[in-house]
Amino acid sequence: SEQIYILGIESSCDDTSASVICNGKVLSNVIANQEVHSKYGGVVPELASRAHQQNIVPVVQQALVQAKVDKKQLSAIAFTKGPGLMGSLLVGTSFAKSLAMGLQIPLIDVNHMQAHILAHFIEDDTKAPPFPFICLTISGGHTQIVKVTNHFKMEVLGETIDDAVGEAFDKSAKILGLPYPGGPLIDKYAKLGNPKAYPFTKPKVGDLQFSFSGLKTGVLYFIQKQLKLNPNFIKENLNDICASIQYTIVEILMDKLKNAVKQTNIKHIAIAGGVSANSEIRNHLQLAEKHFGWSTYIPKFEYTTDNAAMIAITGYLKYLNKTYADNSVTAKARLKV
Ligand code: KG4
Ligand code: ZN
Repeated sequence: SEQIYILGIESSCDDTSASVICNGKVLSNVIANQEVHSKYGGVVPELASRAHQQNIVPVVQQALVQAKVDKKQLSAIAFTKGPGLMGSLLVGTSFAKSLAMGLQIPLIDVNHMQAHILAHFIEDDTKAPPFPFICLTISGGHTQIVKVTNHFKMEVLGETIDDAVGEAFDKSAKILGLPYPGGPLIDKYAKLGNPKAYPFTKPKVGDLQFSFSGLKTGVLYFIQKQLKLNPNFIKENLNDICASIQYTIVEILMDKLKNAVKQTNIKHIAIAGGVSANSEIRNHLQLAEKHFGWSTYIPKFEYTTDNAAMIAITGYLKYLNKTYADNSVTAKARLKV
């Protein structure tokens, strides 16, 4: 049978990534993280686009070498069109367009948020969710509950009205003096702490909506108050603070998922996006199989945070449908699912 090789390129935020997949199987998935942002407490767009420009050629070359695929074997190039930081998106978009033109092969534009979800269809040893399923997409920029009817029919049932859940992790971490991105560090320290040490209030937002800005403010005021009483409060209680913040966030997410199941009667539940790397949300989702009778789908760790394999698998699915991009396609900072 025919071998379809897709090169995926991801440059929407602060990771430059390239991946080669063959008929849905990942041959390589190279990611260059940008260290430059850690001391600023967040991604600096200007520095991100410059780092993408520096990294894109070596990262693509490495992805081809690791996959043992020559660029002349490629069937199509898939790239992230949006959503994301414009200066970052432009680097991947321009590079993908030029390479597709040079190789005279189809160009495929990919929606980053769809790709996080479609990472579930990478052919590996995890099972893919059957349609229809509910996906909780949680990242640094988005928090959405999506009803997925087929690979390309997705409907957002609810989303955040302010901060994304990744921001809640990262901004709380910043308050605790941890470097960016703080989400993985909160996860790490939380493992050794008491999740019920400090109660934080959950937001009151209706239906399937989320709100995380209040939690961030709650953490800030709580820490400021405690530091006045004990200047070493953070140092002495870091594990408990992290565990309590993480516990509150995971409760908020699980509450909304339960609402979504009630509303749709769909019990196939998937998670996707950078925050789905979080060990507590992964544990809670797994427990929901036993407690609520859900079938749950948790992506492999390496396909949760931004990566090009998810762009390549989306490109592959679009390639099978012959859904190609026009050669005048442009990057879009705001792009709906
Ligand atoms: O999907 P992603 O890589 O980039 C965006 O599209 O935003 O998500 C990045 C977000 C960051 O906020 C990061 O702190 C968070 O995912 N994150 C985590 C963990 N790993 C990454 N948050 C909590 N626990 C983790 N283990
Ligand atoms: Zn992402």
